[in-house]
Amino acid sequence: QTIFLADYTPFTHRVERVHLTFRLAPGATRVISRIDFAPNPDSAGGPFFLHGEKLALIEAKIDGAPVTPEITETGLTCAVPDGPFTWEAEVEISPESNTALEGLYMSNGMYCTQCEAEGFRKITYYPDRPDVMAPFTVRIESDLPVLLSNGNPTGRGEGWAEWTDPWPKPAYLFALVAGELVNHPDRFTTRSGREVELNIWVREGDLHKCAFGMDALKRSMTWDEQVYGREYDLDVFNIVAVDDFNMGAMENKGLNIFNSSAVLASPETATDANFERIESIIAHEYFHNWTGNRITCRDWFQLCLKEGLTVFRDQQFSGDERSAAVQRINDVLALRARQFREDNGPLAHPVRPESFVEINNFYTATVYEKGAEVIGMLKRLVGDEAYFKALDLYFTRHDGQACTIEDWLKVFEDTTGRDLSQFKRWYSQAGTPRLDVHEAWSPGMTGKAAGTYTLTLRQNTPPTPGQPDKAPLVIPVAVGLLDRDGTEVVPTRVLELTDVTQSFAFDGLETRPVPSILRGFSAPVILTRKQDREELAFLLAHDTDPFNRWEAGRTLAKDVLVRMIAEDAAPSPAYLDALEQMAQDGGLDPAFRALALGLPSQDDMAQTLFDSGHTPDPIRIRRAIRALGQAIADHAGSTFSDLYDEMTVPGPYLPDAEGAGQRALRQAALGFLTLEDEGARARAQFDAADNMTEQLGALVALLHIDAAEEQLSAFRHQWQRDRLVMDKWFGLQASMAPPEKAAKVTRRLTEDADFDWKNPNRFRAVLGGLAANAAGFHDPSGDSYALFTDWLIRLDPLNPQTTARMTTAFETWKRYDADRQGLIRENLERLAAVPDLSRDTTEMVGRILSA
Ligand code: ARG
Ligand code: ZN
Repeated sequence: QTIFLADYTPFTHRVERVHLTFRLAPGATRVISRIDFAPNPDSAGGPFFLHGEKLALIEAKIDGAPVTPEITETGLTCAVPDGPFTWEAEVEISPESNTALEGLYMSNGMYCTQCEAEGFRKITYYPDRPDVMAPFTVRIESDLPVLLSNGNPTGRGEGWAEWTDPWPKPAYLFALVAGELVNHPDRFTTRSGREVELNIWVREGDLHKCAFGMDALKRSMTWDEQVYGREYDLDVFNIVAVDDFNMGAMENKGLNIFNSSAVLASPETATDANFERIESIIAHEYFHNWTGNRITCRDWFQLCLKEGLTVFRDQQFSGDERSAAVQRINDVLALRARQFREDNGPLAHPVRPESFVEINNFYTATVYEKGAEVIGMLKRLVGDEAYFKALDLYFTRHDGQACTIEDWLKVFEDTTGRDLSQFKRWYSQAGTPRLDVHEAWSPGMTGKAAGTYTLTLRQNTPPTPGQPDKAPLVIPVAVGLLDRDGTEVVPTRVLELTDVTQSFAFDGLETRPVPSILRGFSAPVILTRKQDREELAFLLAHDTDPFNRWEAGRTLAKDVLVRMIAEDAAPSPAYLDALEQMAQDGGLDPAFRALALGLPSQDDMAQTLFDSGHTPDPIRIRRAIRALGQAIADHAGSTFSDLYDEMTVPGPYLPDAEGAGQRALRQAALGFLTLEDEGARARAQFDAADNMTEQLGALVALLHIDAAEEQLSAFRHQWQRDRLVMDKWFGLQASMAPPEKAAKVTRRLTEDADFDWKNPNRFRAVLGGLAANAAGFHDPSGDSYALFTDWLIRLDPLNPQTTARMTTAFETWKRYDADRQGLIRENLERLAAVPDLSRDTTEMVGRILSA
């Protein structure tokens, strides 16, 4: 059944107050609800309907009198009084048999919840929709030592605890945790003097992995006060780490629940990349307290209202805490890898979709990451001051409300006087716009600064499913001009492209400038301008915009690779020289240099080749990238040897940005050196490492040359008892196996005694690892497709959400040759034909196949 944005109607009633009692037992938990309803003046009326799924109703009462509602698979209807009334119900549920990890479930003996988007209906009968907001009081009855819910603690006794959340909230923000947990405590005093108790709750053995997350939380709280003027609003803020979790984390009011991988870290077990990810997810969930919780979404079509904005905020935070330039490059890398991939295939959809079958299928890179880009563009267009003025208005005008994208844009219109109706197309039009650029130069009179340089921009968005014709968007294009010796003659200016084609003139120039276009990646578009190699090398050496400097290197690398793949050309010495010079440039941040030494991914190259009219061959792509790596290593071996020594970070490991940058550059050097020394340095580093970044780095370098056997077994022996580290052990082997061995290696991993396939992290490590192994996944035998599909078929009845998400491994299938397409189609059809396939997976496979 398809749900449409256009069909929105308000709920018949308002909820004034919710009281819940949980009598916890693994196989038979009783949930007793008392809910005060009153007619909603904004509703046109209609039957009283409460959502509810897989609930055993014990009894129901209205104003104390028993009632017999009419129950279906999705909920109940009941005759109710005309005025306000109190609904009471008792239901029974079985947390221990809840394998979907949605609603109330168990993870290693601990009770926990995940209600976003529509999990609360698996806990009790309720209007489970975000526009119904209410204050909750929750009583938990259990002998377990730690009993947590949202809000502030308001009562505790032998075998019970009570929590009261004064802030009205939708049911998707409800949370409950009960278990044998220990806490890492701290405190925070808000700007206006509120004393907040902070806790990270974990299993006993994980207590040494909480310090960094706690520090990140306090920094997030300070940052939100300083930058957005937002303070925390309860006496307690709890975070809980859970091993079995479908996503990264969840912003439940006052009780954030995290996948352990998104909060637990120690120097010995977590890499720099893990620390960075944890910092950003902690910030993200904390920032939701205002953008998501205090102001929430009217309906799930508005998901980007909270997600796009909160991603944008967490990216700003990370940019402020670390290097803004490096952060931007990483964000764009992720956007291209996930969102552009989505936008250029059968799953393309607008930032605000207009219909869905299963909302869980729309927690996508488009809603999140492109949603954040749209906010970045808005900020670029109106300027920083106007942006924060609009945000202040948003918070005061809409506090306590469930809002829409229209509300969001209106605060910008009201504070700036701008008409945003054309800009709004970014929310409704899917697809990645292509931006073409033409240049013209008229020198004027010689000797005078009278030359005019004209840029003509042309936009075009290719069709996407259901949207054959596209209208022009408002595209902010940040441009700067350099002269031939690298001086910036025109500093960054934001050109506002609103028509299909538009020209912008720069005059008063002495000589023909070199343009630096789309600085800072000012809009999520694909530049199709053909740049010559000299100009790219010049920008790599001189651009004053760090993003575009990196981008020039990346474009050069892609250009070299395309010619290696399509024409069997050798990498040009000019490119190798430019890259070596950049690597040696001590004036550049090591983290930046590490990024600039990173080669394009196999998937990126497949899309690039496809866009330029080739049929990508994953095996050839892999071979070319490896050959380019070898050529770089041959060319600049001594530079990497020097860098490897120079970038040694002295002293004990600290997960700070500076050390991480040096380690990243050292790792890049190690990767190249390993191609020259047959792994000697990597083996030495593996043996000496006292932190996971260096240990895993060495392992990756050895896996790259398929010479890690000894280290893999040592690693396993050392980390057998640490689940998060073992996920890395599983994931790396699947993702780095040579193409012809990938299916075999992955099958062997699935037969391992420690392959706990019901745990989403472990499942994703192994099968997601295989899907990330581009050449291995697309091995012409089709073995990987079949193995992958077999496992999706096995997981689907237990955990539809994770299964459906993983079908995206096939979203690029139309790029490939007829043989591969045939094999993929066979597997997708085999999946689609499974009896009782979940609604989640059915929707995804249907969309992928309809391409
Ligand atoms: N709101 C969470 C976050 O972005 C994600 C929860 C997604 N859950 C889901 N079942 N789709 O932090
Ligand atoms: Zn979020």
